[in-house]
Parts: sequence; C-alpha cells; structure tokens
Amino acid sequence: MSKETKLFIIGEENGLYNTVKEALAEFELVFIEAQNYLAELKRHEPQIAIVLKNGFESPVDLIHSLIKEFPAVSILFIHDLQDFQLLRDVTRAGAMDYLVIPDEINVLTDRVQSLAAQTRTKSEAAVSAGSFKRGRGQVLAFYSGKGGSGKTFLSTAFAQTLKLESTAQVIYIDLNLQYGGAETFLGIDSNRSLIDLKPVIHEINEHHIRNVSEKEGFSKLEILISPKDAELAESVDEEYITRLLRACRRSYDFIIVDIPSAMDERSYAVLTEADRIFYVMNLNTPSIKVLKHVEELFQRLGIVTEDRLEIILNETGKENELSKKDIERFVKYPVRAEVRRDLKGVQAAVNQGKPVRKEPKEKKLIPAAKDVQKWVVSMLK
Ligand SMILES: Nc1ncnc2c1ncn2[C@@H]1O[C@H](COP(=O)(O)OP(=O)(O)OP(=O)(O)O)[C@@H](O)[C@H]1O
Ligand SMILES: [Mg+2]
Repeated sequence: MSKETKLFIIGEENGLYNTVKEALAEFELVFIEAQNYLAELKRHEPQIAIVLKNGFESPVDLIHSLIKEFPAVSILFIHDLQDFQLLRDVTRAGAMDYLVIPDEINVLTDRVQSLAAQTRTKSEAAVSAGSFKRGRGQVLAFYSGKGGSGKTFLSTAFAQTLKLESTAQVIYIDLNLQYGGAETFLGIDSNRSLIDLKPVIHEINEHHIRNVSEKEGFSKLEILISPKDAELAESVDEEYITRLLRACRRSYDFIIVDIPSAMDERSYAVLTEADRIFYVMNLNTPSIKVLKHVEELFQRLGIVTEDRLEIILNETGKENELSKKDIERFVKYPVRAEVRRDLKGVQAAVNQGKPVRKEPKEKKLIPAAKDVQKWVVSMLK
C-alpha cells in the first residue's frame, strides 16, 4: 500500500529531514524545499503533505497557503520540540496531526498510514459521488464597478444559454449576499443557499454542492443562491469562497459567478480565482470613469487584468452617449460582446418572473437573449 500514496515532505535538508526520511523509507517520498514550495507543488496534486519545522517560513503561514492552494490536502506537521501554543495554531490552520521528532519517531509510520487511509477513503467517496478529476472547470466572473449595469441579468442569461446550447456542466453562483438578485431573473424561490455548505466546507465535494443547489426549471441550470441574512452572510469569507470555487472547478465545466459592485473579500476571492472577468459597462462617460477607478483598485489589490478582463457592452443602441468605437478608443480591454437595450423583452420576462431562455434551439428569442446566445456560441467555438 505504501508506494501508491506519494508523500510530499516540505522542509529543508537537515537532521530533522534525514530522520523523517529514514523512518518513512517504505513510502514514496518527494522532497520539496520550503523556500519555494508553492511553485514546486503546483506541478503535482499533493494529497498528503508533511510539513517540517524549517527556517524559511512559519508553519502556520505555510499550512494556510497549502490548504488555500490545495483544499483537499491532508497535512501532518513535524516539529523538534513540544510547543503547545504552536500545536494549537497549526491545528487551527488546518493540520490534521502533529508530531515531535525524535520523541515520537516510533508512531510516525502509523500516523502516516492512517492519513493515507483517510485520504483514500476521501478520494473513493469522491469517485462514487462522480466528482473525481472531472478536469479543470473555468470560473467566469461577471463584474462592474457600477451598480445597475446589468451584471445579474447578463450573467443569468449567459449561464442559462450556456447550459442550453452545450452539454457542459454549468453552475451559477450568486454572490450578492445581502439582497440576492438572480432569483428574480431566473424565477426561483428558495430557502436553500450557499451558506448551507458551511458544515462541510472543509471537505466539500460535488455531492454536497448538488444537494444545496437549486435547479432552474427550463434549462436545469444549477444555482447556488446567496444567503439573505446579512449576519449569516458575514461568515462566508474569502477562504469559504475559494474552497467553494475550487470544489466547483473539480465537478463543473463552467462556474458563472455574479459579483456585487461593492468590493469585499468575497468579490476579491472570485476576482483572484477567475479565469475570465466579464466587465459589464454601458455606453456613457460615467461607465468609463468607473472602469478607470476599478483598474486602479485592481492594481492595488494585485488582481491581474491582462488576458483576463473583457468588456461586455450592455444596453447598446443608437440613443447612447458613446459608441462602441469610443469605448475601444478609451479602453484597452477587448470588447467581447454587445447586448442591445431591450426594454420590452427584458421587462416582460422580469414581470412574469420567467427566465429569458426556455429551451434549446429556441425560435422566438427576445433581442437581448439573441445577443447573449451569439456571445455564448462564439465562446464555445
Ligand atoms: N440589455 C438590457 N435591456 C433592457 N434592460 C436591461 C438590460 N440589461 C439590464 N436591464 C435592466 O436593468 C436593470 C439592472 O440590471 P441588473 O439587475 O442585471 O444590473 P446589476 O448590475 O446586476 O445591478 P446591481 O448592481 O444592483 O446588482 C434591471 O431592471 C434589468 O432588467
Ligand atoms: Mg445584480
């Protein structure tokens, strides 16, 4: 059994490492220098990591980043002294176990065996839930610095269209934590929300997500609705969102996320994690000004826009202050799609509480839905 689970040992090549290496000779070991561990580990998908006390990085920080990067990893921490405060801190950071070497050298292999066994059960459970290695889904974030620009309308129509026009597995995540919004456009009324994933967020898999998500009736698009209660919403933090998105990546092909205009740690988490950011804007000068502010903010926060941020022009039409050409002159990002102003069609759908898409290959689409369809189809090519 030992050779089938790779153990990643993160530390430095010193006496502690040599002792551990010898004791674990029956396992397949991969040594990772603590100085540059993230870059090294990204080439693997570690399931078990043994973190050694080292002179490069504090164990708590190291464990934090490991879990952030690899939510499924099981971590054993090894120190050379008994230190109860540190033990508490690394456990809180997410280490499953803690040993003092050489004092506890004789239980080391036992502990590693049991970690490996737990890891196997976890991946078997994931396989039976159909969530194992479905590949890497794409996170598509809808954002705008300006409220009311059409993020929620466009993201819901986009997700529904993507679901209807392809065989892709699609999930929609509504992050407008205080008020929601997607339900209005998708005609959904539900008590469930993504906060229901809280008890399982540390081991979250496809099965949990499917249990909590709602299905839009026409397209069968899966939706995770935002909690309504601001107080509950507070416990959904950056780490929660990162874990959720990474779990979704493992089980879905596309993860569409609607982010509110106000920047908070949740929006930040999505914008950092996203493969593409669809920035929604209207054809007027305030929209351009807001985009400039957003650019500055992103730069300060370290959110990369190059090759990620694409402009979606919403409510296009003759009566606008600016044209697409003007936008292209002032804005360096590519314009990926244009969606017409469609007061009649969009309003009627909202008033009826019905989504704009009802079936594949639909004939009578409202103009705005046609534009979204064109955009989705061009993206799938
Ligand atoms: N292409 C369009 N044609 C006509 N009406 C539209 C169009 N796009 C959006 N709307 C309308 O504009 C309003 C704002 O849209 P939406 O709620 O999607 O914006 P938002 O950016 O999500 O707003 P918020 O910042 O409040 O979340 C809605 O009433 C919607 O019906
Ligand atoms: Mg909205």
